[in-house]
Amino acid sequence: MTYKRYTVTAALPYANGPIHIGHLAGCYLPADIYVRYLRLKGEDVLFICGSDEHGVPITIKAKKEGITPQQVVDKYHEIMGGAFREFGVSFDIFSRTSSKTHHETASGFFKTLYDKGVFKEEVTEQYFDEKANQFLADRYIIGTCPKCGNENAYGDQCEKCGSSLNPTDLINPRSTLSGEKPVLKKTKNWFLPLDKMQPEIEAYIDSHKEWKPNVFGQCKSWLNSGLQPRAMTRDLDWGVKVPIEGAEGKVLYVWFDAPIGYISATKEYLSPAGRAGEGLWELYWKDKETKLVHFIGKDNIVFHCIIFPAMLMAEGSYILPDNVPANEFLNLEGDKISTSRNWAVWLHEYLIDFKDKQDTLRYTLCANAPETKDNDFTWKDFQAKNNNELVAILGNFINRTLVLTHKYYNGKVPDAMEYTKNDILLLEEISKFPERIASSIEHYRFREALAELMNLARAGNKYLADNEPWILIKTDEKRVQTIMNISLQIVANLTVLMEPFLPFTSKKLGAMLNLNPGLKWKDAARTDLLLVRHQINPASLLFDKIEEEAITAQVQKLADSKKMNETANKTIEPSKPETSFDDFNKMDIRIGTILEAERVPKTDKLLKLLIDTGIDKRIIVSGIAAYYKPEDIIGQQVSILVNLAPRKIKGIESKGMILMAENSAGELGFIMPNKPSMNNGDRIK
Ligand code: 2FM
Ligand code: ZN
Repeated sequence: MTYKRYTVTAALPYANGPIHIGHLAGCYLPADIYVRYLRLKGEDVLFICGSDEHGVPITIKAKKEGITPQQVVDKYHEIMGGAFREFGVSFDIFSRTSSKTHHETASGFFKTLYDKGVFKEEVTEQYFDEKANQFLADRYIIGTCPKCGNENAYGDQCEKCGSSLNPTDLINPRSTLSGEKPVLKKTKNWFLPLDKMQPEIEAYIDSHKEWKPNVFGQCKSWLNSGLQPRAMTRDLDWGVKVPIEGAEGKVLYVWFDAPIGYISATKEYLSPAGRAGEGLWELYWKDKETKLVHFIGKDNIVFHCIIFPAMLMAEGSYILPDNVPANEFLNLEGDKISTSRNWAVWLHEYLIDFKDKQDTLRYTLCANAPETKDNDFTWKDFQAKNNNELVAILGNFINRTLVLTHKYYNGKVPDAMEYTKNDILLLEEISKFPERIASSIEHYRFREALAELMNLARAGNKYLADNEPWILIKTDEKRVQTIMNISLQIVANLTVLMEPFLPFTSKKLGAMLNLNPGLKWKDAARTDLLLVRHQINPASLLFDKIEEEAITAQVQKLADSKKMNETANKTIEPSKPETSFDDFNKMDIRIGTILEAERVPKTDKLLKLLIDTGIDKRIIVSGIAAYYKPEDIIGQQVSILVNLAPRKIKGIESKGMILMAENSAGELGFIMPNKPSMNNGDRIK
């Protein structure tokens, strides 16, 4: 079926942290490629996103940082919006669910369903934290997932197996507010009767067998286990107020309000209150000739494929999503990306560390996109993709072509004099690329599309290498004109076709070629985009090599973050049982000075020390060799337990013990007085 217009949404990210590469690869980059492609085709398309500012993730973050939820969302809405813009994610609007339009829209939507009698109103027993005096919805409660055994499943979803859950499904539930075991308490809520709607939802899913297997498969598995009614309200105070009597102190479930955020954002963008365009938004949500596509990560599948469509069906006047191309997850250096463990590459930091290299990250993430299975991002691969593909293939072909054009023709496009058989075959081949790449994009196979784009650059490189214009120029100038004309046409086609993937490079290249910026996708099937004698501008390099140091610095940054995290997570040992002063007083601890130090042969850990204890000079063997070099500690003041019974260590009699502090990472450090007036033999008590 052909469509008149497209509404494309990208999942509204929670405004509780910045954007990382996992978000980009999972959802925002493929969505942006798709939309840029549609725009180049000349389609009428709206690209909608915004921040998801309600729900427990926000209030938890606020509590952790000691600020208000509003301060949290203001901060991250700004950071996320700025980073997306700078990365070239071309939303038509990046709105937010705390906006007035959204509160009105979400609340109106709920009221419509309520008035139609859609909801099942029910008093049920819900978990309550008596210490925090609060009901425990969604992420306020964790426990063991009944489906997969994950011990840290949330009250609304298990992130490990993707199951959608109710808090009462959890085995061994505990409050994330106090860690306490919650009690059950009665409360009234409004449920969407997904059980009753199952046949309708099933028919809808079954009419979309073309969906990605991971998406279709997940939907079928939920349907097979039987849908359950799901509460659309929560006993919380942060969110959209439930707009009916008797629901004071309750808000809409965040997964009820968030997808409506797509609709509110469309209204804000197209039909701002009191201005022209009133009602225009409806075309993008209600007209059958509009194609609605939701880009999301795999943890959002149930909400976009079952719950949101069920809400739209129940309302009755909306179109349903035509496709929900969810990606799997991207890992980082072999480990799951995690905000709380700071195991991530943050977009706003990348944009500082790799200024003007947006396209390198776009390229790497797309070439490695987790489209069919989880995938891994490594800095080494990032470097290799930049140096061996962008620089060595794409950049090299374009640069050689432009430099030779300037050298031989002062930057004026030469005439194609006479085509050889191979030229004709190549020209035919070139004209097929737009359709081939388009087909991959339209099937949401972005990696394949990008690989095809690179094949065009490879074809160009091969053409230059096979024909060697730099040698022929001495003997056959006419032939070189044809070769350079064809090469330039390939560069022009690449400029158009790369735009969805590498928009910054495309823009730069378009300016170098002095190319008509109004060219459309189908124009790239032509092989005469650059007319004879068209003047091109001076060429500059499109990509440069990423050196080892830049990569090492990033790997080190991750290692530091891992170490900090391990240190922070190491549990402090509980105190030993009580002891008496008399027992403590039995120990004779003195200040001493190290006079000599040497390694104990055939050991890694031990140093043999000669110590002046003030009482005597004696040998002590100490396990500090991993932390101190013998030559560095001569003259060091230390604390010594002098009346410890002598022990033989590696054949050496050790008389006493040096006292050391040990941190959570196991590092040892001397304990010494902080006054120079303390002398050998002075007591520690
Ligand atoms: O997973 C998330 O980050 C959610 N905030 C996505 C919401 S998508 C939509 F429904 F708004
Ligand atoms: Zn699970």
